[in-house]
Amino acid sequence: MVNAHPPLLAPSLLAGDHGAFRESLKKVEALGLQWIHLDIMDGHFVPNLSFGPQVLAALRPRSQLFFDTHLMLDNPHRYIEPFAKAGANLISIHVEPDYPIADTLRHIKTLGCQCGLALNPGTPAQALDPYLPHLDLVLVMSVQPGFGGQSFQSSALGKIHYFHTQRQQHGYSYRLEVDGGIDPDTAQLCLAQGADTFVAGTAFFGSTRGLAPWTPIS
Ligand code: DX5
Ligand code: ZN
Repeated sequence: MVNAHPPLLAPSLLAGDHGAFRESLKKVEALGLQWIHLDIMDGHFVPNLSFGPQVLAALRPRSQLFFDTHLMLDNPHRYIEPFAKAGANLISIHVEPDYPIADTLRHIKTLGCQCGLALNPGTPAQALDPYLPHLDLVLVMSVQPGFGGQSFQSSALGKIHYFHTQRQQHGYSYRLEVDGGIDPDTAQLCLAQGADTFVAGTAFFGSTRGLAPWTPIS
């Protein structure tokens, strides 16, 4: 299957040592990777807290990595500006909460960032249809968001296939990212359905499997 973008790995900082974020970034950079995935949680949309824009701002001057910022917030529209100013390169928001999604996507672009839209395992793929022409990234959650270390849900595969087909049929240009329970094996399953961007937390920072298994998608 032909993918629209070269595959890349986006390690999730959430799974790294929270007392040593800079060291985690150095590890990612030393491997020649270009993206870092930043999970932002509000304790409402998801039952967990992580970190905020101050952390991005502190890391930004020390890293050239592409900050792939995943907002798991009930009110993401209130926080676009702080994350853009802090140095996010791409900001993904979720489709599930009730807020002005199209306006928020436009706001992200206005501030010079790429925009993404995410959906949970229980949300039908078609919920993203109205927004697809405007997206730089579609983020398919393959676990219920909130925590790292969960098992990959194979229901994500059908959605990846759907978004890849839509991309081909309509000439959309978004990257197709999958997030949750990704390891070298599940990444291959997603790659076969058209995913090109792979978030890995536990399998990257918490694994001794090393990088060799990632070679096919790095
Ligand atoms: C889950 C986060 C994921 C998480 C992935 O809410 O969005 O990015 O860090 O972690 P693993 O790879 O451990 O499932
Ligand atoms: Zn994430």
